[in-house]
Amino acid sequence: MLIQPISIGYVNQNNYKHIRQKSFIPENSKPNSDINQLGVPFSYSNISFKQKLNYCDFLKNLHSVHKNKSIKNIVLSTINNKENFIGSGFTADVYAIPGIENYLIRIERKNFNTKSFLENPIIPELQNELAPNFGQYIASNNYGFFITKKVQGESHSLPNWPEVIENLETKTQGLKYKEAELILNKITKLSEFPQQSFDELAKNIQKLNKYTDCEIDIMNPNNLIVDEQNKTINIIDLWYKHSENGSIAPFNGIDSMVNLMLDPLTFKTVYDKLSHKQQDKLIKVSEQIIEKIFIAADKFGLERNRENAKIIYGDVDKHSDFNFALPAYEKFLEIFADKLA
Ligand SMILES: Nc1ncnc2c1ncn2[C@@H]1O[C@H](COP(=O)(O)OP(=O)(O)O)[C@@H](O)[C@H]1O
Ligand SMILES: [Mg+2]
Repeated sequence: MLIQPISIGYVNQNNYKHIRQKSFIPENSKPNSDINQLGVPFSYSNISFKQKLNYCDFLKNLHSVHKNKSIKNIVLSTINNKENFIGSGFTADVYAIPGIENYLIRIERKNFNTKSFLENPIIPELQNELAPNFGQYIASNNYGFFITKKVQGESHSLPNWPEVIENLETKTQGLKYKEAELILNKITKLSEFPQQSFDELAKNIQKLNKYTDCEIDIMNPNNLIVDEQNKTINIIDLWYKHSENGSIAPFNGIDSMVNLMLDPLTFKTVYDKLSHKQQDKLIKVSEQIIEKIFIAADKFGLERNRENAKIIYGDVDKHSDFNFALPAYEKFLEIFADKLA
């Protein structure tokens, strides 16, 4: 086992991840995996945090803060208090436990219920010491409950991104001006991050490719976590590579970074909402981001993975019955044709 994709096996039957579930190949069933060949010993440590992040450490931490309260009681009172809510995606809701710095609770809405939570044990996951922090889980109960490594920073898009996308798909509602402006501001801030921040992310993706079989979920820009203060850029939300869609490696590369940072699915809608001056700015700062990505990718040997991205967006369209994601991506590639063609 390696870095844990947080959704494997417990995906929402009704979301786009489901269509890819069949093709997940558990690492231990793959005789030729790099990991198995390397015979990497699994140990409890974490490179990004330069400290040990694992279930044992989590329990110690929990005990020191919450004394003799049981873990299940702490979890239930945490998720029942809206103040602890951090964010949600298509599948899961995520919460911070009061007083706990480095871990989060992740609840998959379709699969979690209080009864199974109380009845089933929480099982620790051994950690792949060569994998950086991609928000992977350190324990789960196999029924939609996970404890994950926290990544410091803020998500890179609107908190209600899944809802916005559904509205855009069904054309029930466009984007509000304020929302477009917020996205412009986030992209602008990111463009101002030093080259080193982009380099660090590229280095982590290089490690992900080298030491794990996990693929970044490029769909939702909220899977990019940006830390303004420390100028770090991280990614959360992984799944296993899939072979069924006919894609060939590389899965994680230049376009994973571009797509999470600029969100092709909302890009043109955001652009259309802005003033002419803001539109020019959006293009300028986006180009700066793309340039920094290319420099970083070059340093760490990342390749273009646009074809894989197209397959993912195509899968989304097939599943949702709206011809939305792939055309939006094609349009995005046209806008940046001189850089991304
Ligand atoms: N490890 C993490 N560190 C920081 N924020 C996180 C982490 N995991 C999740 N979040 C926040 O919670 C949101 C939903 O979590 P995610 O695991 O991406 O759910 P989904 O699989 O439904 O997309 C994220 O977009 C992010 O805002
Ligand atoms: Mg997500």
